[in-house]
Amino acid sequence: MHEILADLVKGIYLSGDIPRDVRTFLDRLGYPQTIRHSQQVAEEAARLAFRYGADPLKAARAGWLHDVSVVFLNNQRVEVARCLGLELLSEEERNPVLLHQKISKVRAQEIFCVLDPDVLAAIGCHSTLRSGATLLDKVLFVADKLAWDQTGNPPYYPEMAEAIEKSIDKAALVYIRSLYERKETLSFRLHPWLIEAYFELSGPIPNP
Ligand SMILES: [Fe+2]
Ligand SMILES: [Fe+2]
Repeated sequence: MHEILADLVKGIYLSGDIPRDVRTFLDRLGYPQTIRHSQQVAEEAARLAFRYGADPLKAARAGWLHDVSVVFLNNQRVEVARCLGLELLSEEERNPVLLHQKISKVRAQEIFCVLDPDVLAAIGCHSTLRSGATLLDKVLFVADKLAWDQTGNPPYYPEMAEAIEKSIDKAALVYIRSLYERKETLSFRLHPWLIEAYFELSGPIPNP
């Protein structure tokens, strides 16, 4: 395990039971809100997985682990990503919050010993989605947006809740479109994976 990750789990007993271990880890490092959010995402992801035919156990596991990189502050994330040998995009360097999905993926693998490539892939794109996303990727992405980690409901919530009745792709697109359509007014550049997912899920542009 990389030293930068090993330091964080010194003295913490991890049992192999993911929900319990994530709770223990985040509690010890002082992130009770992230415990609540992760539990909500895990429960929502399992529900969506059951509904759309993905594996609910994998979805729940990904939900528990998706934000375990919260323990690194934004101003540490570029350095952490470099230490871990992760590929850094310019959008991520400028807006390091975008890196947390990649760092969570490494943490899930190295600290919580998750080897399942489906679960790791979903964690690794839970914030932006990506082109060619799997059903599990979409389930985790939508669950994360529904279980908002701030007060109240997000502005896109009613439209997303309605879209879920139709398809997981439509639900994912609600959030992605809400960012894409106001990209000129945002203080950060959109992650290229999100833009690719936008064009893929929007379908072909009709001929004039
Ligand atoms: Fe996240
Ligand atoms: Fe999250």
